[in-house]
Amino acid sequence: MQIETILSPLLFHQIEQLEKKVVVVIDILRATSTITSILNNGAKAVIPVREEKYAREYKDQGFLVGGERGGETIDGFDFGNSPFHYKPEIVKDKEIVLTTTNGTKCIDMSASAYEVIIGSFLNLEAVIKRLKAANRDIVLFAAGWKDRVNLEDSLFAGAVAASFPKATKDDATLLSIDAYKAVKGDLFKALQNSNHFQRLASKGVTKDIEYCCEVNVIDSAGVLRQGKIIKQS
Ligand code: MLT
Repeated sequence: MQIETILSPLLFHQIEQLEKKVVVVIDILRATSTITSILNNGAKAVIPVREEKYAREYKDQGFLVGGERGGETIDGFDFGNSPFHYKPEIVKDKEIVLTTTNGTKCIDMSASAYEVIIGSFLNLEAVIKRLKAANRDIVLFAAGWKDRVNLEDSLFAGAVAASFPKATKDDATLLSIDAYKAVKGDLFKALQNSNHFQRLASKGVTKDIEYCCEVNVIDSAGVLRQGKIIKQS
């Protein structure tokens, strides 16, 4: 088994034979953590949409629509990108449309993979379990921020890859494992100086960051099936 880590969407085109590989899309703050929460709160599916205009078309058809650009809720949408916006009583049994700056773009880019799994610390073990069951080459796809590398997504890549000691790993994966091990489990503290932590903290949503740093509080993982993310135990 081979593990490759993509630390910026700009490098994703280098992946060969994507159709044979399992991709884990990682946008810890906050898109993939939020998607994991929405599904855990009982939504039937999350429909990831790359562009705002397509999300608006869904809204016109009566769907509940969430999203952000630059971390700010989009005008006229039902939700932003905070996991706390998607309360169980609102999302239960619904299909929720979501568009975000980086995360939903990377899900769209991965669509032709053998399987696409939505990664977050909230369900780290469930993601690892699904990867072990698939037993295929893995691509850990860190969304970063506007094509730049970020710390939180790299740490998650390291957390996943550290569970596959026998796999062949590229240097980006080795780097991510070292970074994850250096953190020694205190993610929130490790992220304090990171760029998106600062960005979100300046918008007063530190509680979102605290939540997204919780580990293994959800025991299922979202997978992409025909354009919709559904929950798999
Ligand atoms: C994204 O997809 O860019 C992010 O999740 C941004 C955010 O809402 O924090």
